[in-house]
Parts: sequence; structure tokens; C-alpha cells
Amino acid sequence: MTLADFRLTVMPQFESYLREQLATTLEAKDTIFQSMDYSVAAGGKRIRPMLLLATLQALNVPVEQGFSSAAALEYIHTYSLIHDDLPAMDDDDLRRGKPTNHKVYGEAIAILAGDGLLTFAFELLGKDETLSASKRIALMTALASAAGPKKMVQGQVLDMEGEKQALTLAELQNIHQKKTGALISFAVEAAAIIAEASEDITVELLKYANHFGLAFQIKDDILDIIGDETILGKKTGMDQLHDKNTYPSLLTLEGAVTALEKELMAAENCLTNAQKYAEKQGIVMNKALLEALLSLLR
Ligand code: IPE
Ligand code: IPE
Ligand code: MG
Ligand code: MG
Ligand code: MG
Repeated sequence: MTLADFRLTVMPQFESYLREQLATTLEAKDTIFQSMDYSVAAGGKRIRPMLLLATLQALNVPVEQGFSSAAALEYIHTYSLIHDDLPAMDDDDLRRGKPTNHKVYGEAIAILAGDGLLTFAFELLGKDETLSASKRIALMTALASAAGPKKMVQGQVLDMEGEKQALTLAELQNIHQKKTGALISFAVEAAAIIAEASEDITVELLKYANHFGLAFQIKDDILDIIGDETILGKKTGMDQLHDKNTYPSLLTLEGAVTALEKELMAAENCLTNAQKYAEKQGIVMNKALLEALLSLLR
């Protein structure tokens, strides 16, 4: 299956699942449902669930087995954006082409909508009886670790603390890997757990995800300078306004583009290695599908 086919067939099914889970669990009349659903329904590229489901597809596992993990991941990502946009954090007015959650519902409800999405993610995973109890525990633990105070939350703290002070490239890379890379890595980790992938395949796929995550945030930094607001659905120029450390601010725009390309090539190499291990185990891995995802970052 090509990435184009995957986006046309699997992603719309996942999109319905993502919306339905909220709508069938919560009351439509309640403010908390409306504010959570507002940010989820606003869209976004769905790159994290796409990576999770595409990794399952590449390993020949039915994608439906990953729907609860992919939805949990997208709910947590959406919560992180709602909080990231708050006046106390990046103070943004536009997200996914719409006014930010706090601009519509107020700061208190926006904070609670984030809290709601974060906790609902774990409820959804915990009650997915189509997965074994041991897989559910492994998935919930991995997701909590990726989104928690050692990874995403810590990355956000370091991003804030880094404002208005010069960081080294190694320090910036650490922030990017934590604030953005960790959730992207969970996408691949979840697929490996569900697929019961062997240790050697899992290690290479996780390395692929690590390069993918870094590349993704480098691209986000680049687009904050040269991107088109109407396509991105968020304001550009915000990093400079807040004196953020970014790849372009440390390396120049050209240097950031080179760094991005380096990460993408390294990611490709990991796929080649993963495929070699898969072949040895008699698995026909759809490497092209995961390679095509990298091309979205070029
Ligand atoms: C934005 O993520 C925040 C980052 C971690 C860079 P996305 O670029 O995936 O945002 P959406 O989901 O498409 O809105
Ligand atoms: C956001 O990074 C990372 C998380 C939400 C965890 P950014 O602050 O760079 O994301 P944008 O540019 O606002 O989308
Ligand atoms: Mg931020
Ligand atoms: Mg931001
Ligand atoms: Mg950004």
C-alpha cells in the first residue's frame, strides 16, 4: 500500500474513530466536551497517529489494533497544543486555522480541556478490550513516560527556561527530542508493542523515530520563519518574538535545512536496517510506506 492509498483509506476511518470516542463518552451539551472536541475537530496533520498506524501496516498488522493508541496519542498531542498556546506559555491566538482554545472558551476551560484530553487518553487505552491486558499496560506505561515529566513535559519546561538565553546545539537537540520527539517515538513504540516486533526490528524502528522526531521539530522551526500562515494554520514569527532557541537561530536557516536533511537520511538508513532484520525473520516489511512519511518533512 502506498502512502497516498493509506491516507485515503485508513486515515478517514481513524478520523471517525477519534471523534466518535469523545462524542460517545461525553455529553454533547457539556462545555468540557465542546472545548475538547473544538481542538480535536479543528484538524491538524495527524502525523503522529499516521506514523503509528503506518508502522503497523508496514509490519502487516491490522491497523484497527492501533486505533485506541493512535487516538490516545492524538488527544495528548492536542492537549499539549492547547496548553502550549496559553498566555503563560507561547501566548498564541491561532491554531489549526482557528482561534486557540483559550480565545474561545477562556483560560480556565482551556486548561481543563487539556486536562480532560490527557486523562481521557488513558481511559480509552485502559478499556480497549480488543488488546490483551499486558499490551494495554505496556502501551499506557510507554505513553505516560513519553508525555510525562521526564520527556514531553520536561521538554516544555526546558523550552521555556531557554527563552532569552543562548543554548548549545546539544542542549537544543535535547529539548527538541523531549518536547516533540518523545510523542513521535511513542507512535513507533506503540506499533512495535502491538505487533510484538522482535528486539532488533524494534531498536531500528525506534532509531528511525528518533531521527523523525528531531527532523519534525527542525522543520517546525524552519516553517516558523518561512512558512505560510494560511497553510500552517498558526502564526509565524512567534519563535523570534519570544526569543526561542531554534535550529535556524543557532545554525542559520541554511544550516537548519542541512541538519534536517541529515536527520532524514539517518532515518532512512534505520529503515534499511529494520528491513534486513525483517527479511531474516521472513517478514515482508513495507519500508516504502515509512520512507514516504519522511518525504512529508522535505
Ligand atoms: C505542532 O505539531 C507542535 C510541535 C510539536 C511541532 P504539529 O505540527 O503536528 O501540529 P498539528 O497536529 O498538525 O496541528
Ligand atoms: C510545541 O512546540 C511542543 C509541544 C506542544 C509539546 P512549539 O511551541 O514549537 O509548537 P508550535 O510552533 O506552537 O506549534
Ligand atoms: Mg512551545
Ligand atoms: Mg508554540
Ligand atoms: Mg514551533
